[in-house]
Amino acid sequence: MTAQAAQTAAPRRLRLGVNIDHVATIRNARGEGYPDPARAAEVALMAGADGITAHLREDRRHISDADIEALADLTRRRGRPLNFEMAVTTEMEAIALAHRPHAACLVPEHRLEITTEGGLDVVGQHNRVAPVVASLKGAGVRVSLFIEADPAQIIAAHGVGAQVIELHTGAYCLAVRERRATAPRLLAALRDGAAQADALGLEVHAGHGIDYETVGAVAAIPQIAELNIGHFLIGEAIFAGLDPAIRRMRALMDTARGGSAA
Ligand code: PXP
Repeated sequence: MTAQAAQTAAPRRLRLGVNIDHVATIRNARGEGYPDPARAAEVALMAGADGITAHLREDRRHISDADIEALADLTRRRGRPLNFEMAVTTEMEAIALAHRPHAACLVPEHRLEITTEGGLDVVGQHNRVAPVVASLKGAGVRVSLFIEADPAQIIAAHGVGAQVIELHTGAYCLAVRERRATAPRLLAALRDGAAQADALGLEVHAGHGIDYETVGAVAAIPQIAELNIGHFLIGEAIFAGLDPAIRRMRALMDTARGGSAA
């Protein structure tokens, strides 16, 4: 077995990034200050999240500029990573450069979408994506590209110099929830994509739509180093509380990795 294959075969501990955007969605429904995403981030870190993920959308529909400031401050004080999700725009690039989060995940963004639909088209937008990747990397930010498990997109992500890709698990998770026959094929594509990216030297993350039912199959993909999970956990917090919901998700992730919590 080669050294690289041995590394891939080892059950590395899977990191959990908790996306707290929808705490802000609830707060903004009232237009006041409660509930506070930074308080949710504190709870998430105490419950076993390794880092905090937040998406500052161009329309500021959930997370605000002040939230990003508070989260950057909190994660710095706690020594935990902040993963800043952002569209590929000069405005977001400037904000990322001002805060210098641990990581930035470049995502496609359309004003009329309800949530991030599909992955970033790195093949088609190579000339737009490459300079932003270079600028963020130059500032010491680890750059991830949120893409579909498509071989051409993975090669393009490597080509523009990203250190990380985040595989879009939305289609697979929806297929499982709706009991569609396409689920096994979509899971196989995620497996193949993770192996392809790992072989290129990219770190592999995954996220979107993951719940208790789908987390096991995704977490069992050995090349994946991090999952980013939001909407389901914030929804589940209504019924179980945020802390127990995150602990249960963490436990399912560890079980899928053969009980490896180290
Ligand atoms: N990763 C990325 C890049 C995302 O855009 C999102 C949604 O904001 C997530 C992960 C989390 O998805 P969900 O909220 O469905 O768990």
